Amino acid sequence: MTTANTDPVTIALPKGRLLEGSIALCAKIGLSHPELTPATRQLSFQVAGHATQLVIVRDADVPTYVEYGTADIGIVGKDRLLEQRPAVYEPLDLGFGLCRIVLAEPGVSRAQPARPARPTRWTTRRVATKYPNITERYFLRKGLPVEIIKLSGTIELAPLVGLADQIVDIVDTGATLRAHQLVEVEELARSTARVIVNRASMKTKHHRVRQIIQQLAGLQPAGSVGG
Ligand code: PRP
Repeated sequence: MTTANTDPVTIALPKGRLLEGSIALCAKIGLSHPELTPATRQLSFQVAGHATQLVIVRDADVPTYVEYGTADIGIVGKDRLLEQRPAVYEPLDLGFGLCRIVLAEPGVSRAQPARPARPTRWTTRRVATKYPNITERYFLRKGLPVEIIKLSGTIELAPLVGLADQIVDIVDTGATLRAHQLVEVEELARSTARVIVNRASMKTKHHRVRQIIQQLAGLQPAGSVGG
């Protein structure tokens, strides 16, 4: 089977928490491969019958692949877009992968009333995060001094070992915060999986790119196609 339009497109899928949902959505619009599973070690897949390649990259790298046109389309968390602000189109909220970006700090035990410190009480605090830009903007808005410690993962460990006073990280179930006796101070943003598109590809491969966006939007109860 061939598509109405044979523009070859490459779609970047994110490793990690959004991969399973991304693979499932692609499969629903006919973009699948027998070897493409969340556990795969293979990183590139040619979809039979479509001029479409699927590549799996680190979630933080999806915006870069799409901005530079190595991938025409990407699926990535809004958290990464807020952090990196890539020059790409973001036409569709896929709705899955909901999580929150929060400021958190060591808290009291659950037996005691939770009474986290308010930001206005602080002097300069060290904040560990993999979202330095989001964190910097937050503290700038608050007018509070901050020293940001950039980490790549296991952020929740930082206050326990004395590397930071607070963290900015994503929270899904809240289990990781609780496991490290951390309490939420404030929610900075919410994140879901988004479709992003390379700006040039939106024009040069318009038909095929819009077709994929509309097929994905058609799967969403509240999906909306924008510019
Ligand atoms: C995220 C985040 C927390 C955890 C939160 O890490 O950094 O560690 O998930 O989830 P929870 O609220 O359900 O406990 P992730 O698993 O994405 O891995 P990473 O630290 O490598 O980014």
